[in-house]
Amino acid sequence: TQQQTWSQRFESALHPAIALFNASINFDIELIEYDLTGSQAHAKMLAHTGIISAEEGEQLVSGLEQIRQEYRQGQFQPGVDAEDVHFAVERRLTEIVGDVGKKLHTARSRNDQVGTDTRLYLREQIQQIRNYLREFQRVILDIAEQNVETLIPGYTHLQRAQPLSLAHHLLAYFEMAQRDWERLGDVSRRVNISPLGCGALAGTTFPIDRHYTAELLNFDSVYANSLDGVSDRDFAIEFLCAASLIMVHLSRLSEEIILWASEEFRFITLKDSCATGSSIMPQKKNPDVPELVRGKTGRVFGHLQGMLVIMKGLPLAYNKDLQEDKEGLFDGVNTVKACLEAMTILLREGLEFRSQRLGEAVAEDFSNATDVADYLAARGVPFREAYNLVGKVVKTSIAAGKLLKDLTLEEWQQIHPAFAADIYDAIAPRTVVAARNSYGGTGFAQVNKAIHTARNQIRE
Ligand code: ARG
Repeated sequence: TQQQTWSQRFESALHPAIALFNASINFDIELIEYDLTGSQAHAKMLAHTGIISAEEGEQLVSGLEQIRQEYRQGQFQPGVDAEDVHFAVERRLTEIVGDVGKKLHTARSRNDQVGTDTRLYLREQIQQIRNYLREFQRVILDIAEQNVETLIPGYTHLQRAQPLSLAHHLLAYFEMAQRDWERLGDVSRRVNISPLGCGALAGTTFPIDRHYTAELLNFDSVYANSLDGVSDRDFAIEFLCAASLIMVHLSRLSEEIILWASEEFRFITLKDSCATGSSIMPQKKNPDVPELVRGKTGRVFGHLQGMLVIMKGLPLAYNKDLQEDKEGLFDGVNTVKACLEAMTILLREGLEFRSQRLGEAVAEDFSNATDVADYLAARGVPFREAYNLVGKVVKTSIAAGKLLKDLTLEEWQQIHPAFAADIYDAIAPRTVVAARNSYGGTGFAQVNKAIHTARNQIRE
């Protein structure tokens, strides 16, 4: 039974397939609580400004509250015939409170309404995502604190470069998450602007008070231009951009975890609670969690791209294309939350660093070669000369099947008379890491300071 939605201008109902095609109720039901809150603020404003009576205002507000309870108890499940959440609510409201329900949409359009709902939704989701980021940062800090003096090979080009404090390596991800957290705060400021009262596109003939609704809904300000207010989706794009960057960071960490868990690296072991097996190869233990996070990154990028393309050719003001903003946004929100949560669990209890194996790894390569060059440079040899000299030493050592620590003092002194017995300590992995004590470097003293600063940063 198709109810009459449109004005008397229409004589017959929508083709059923077109009704389905047109409807957004199946996904915009996600907005219902925000729609109810937004409508309550609108009703209060209508009463406050005398556009409707105080009593009518109260009826509307409590009718909307009843719908909220019905929805929460699973008793309000509008179907496709309602088209979207806004119509569904208005219809139910009119069933509950009678004809006065038909006054709710005075001085309002679904265009400013849906914009309001989406912003209220995103504002809350951003807060939740920021909390997830904090949890992620916390677990990174906990692991870092335990591993300041655990060493791990550092890479450039995925070739052994210079050894690192494991804490320093992990803190790089703390910093990324910190920027993500701040970036979401910035985005929030542009999400939190009220389009309510922009009407369909041009404002309204009624003496509404946009600042009053904005205040009731805790918006920081109101859109200055009604056309912009109903058709701006910059805030959603900015959010998806920030979400994409979060996913970039999680995906890079995922890639490292996947590598570290491989037989080739053996830097971590995966615990049973966060790994899966193979249906055919009994020996397998697979890093599904980081693989999924890496894979889901593509979805969020896709939503960002989709949203940009939806917007690029739209003339002012509202166009139905804008209904397409929701599914990607909702999925982006849900994906980021799920990935942050899974990654936090994985780090907290799903993997273990193999510190002994890591210690062996840093001792068995030429990643202390820079330090030999630095040793000479600190003793007056121009760095480029020292660099060339050490290059030669590396070449002959490789040929002889030796590491730098295996050279005798005589061999060192043949290379250059500046070498003394302290060269062995100077190139030991621990010394090498401890010595990189420049600001922001991997030296233990720096890392301890960084941990301290990081702890303070998230203490809010
Ligand atoms: N369901 C619509 C959307 O999500 C609500 C706004 C519809 N406005 C309109 N003029 N058709 O965008």
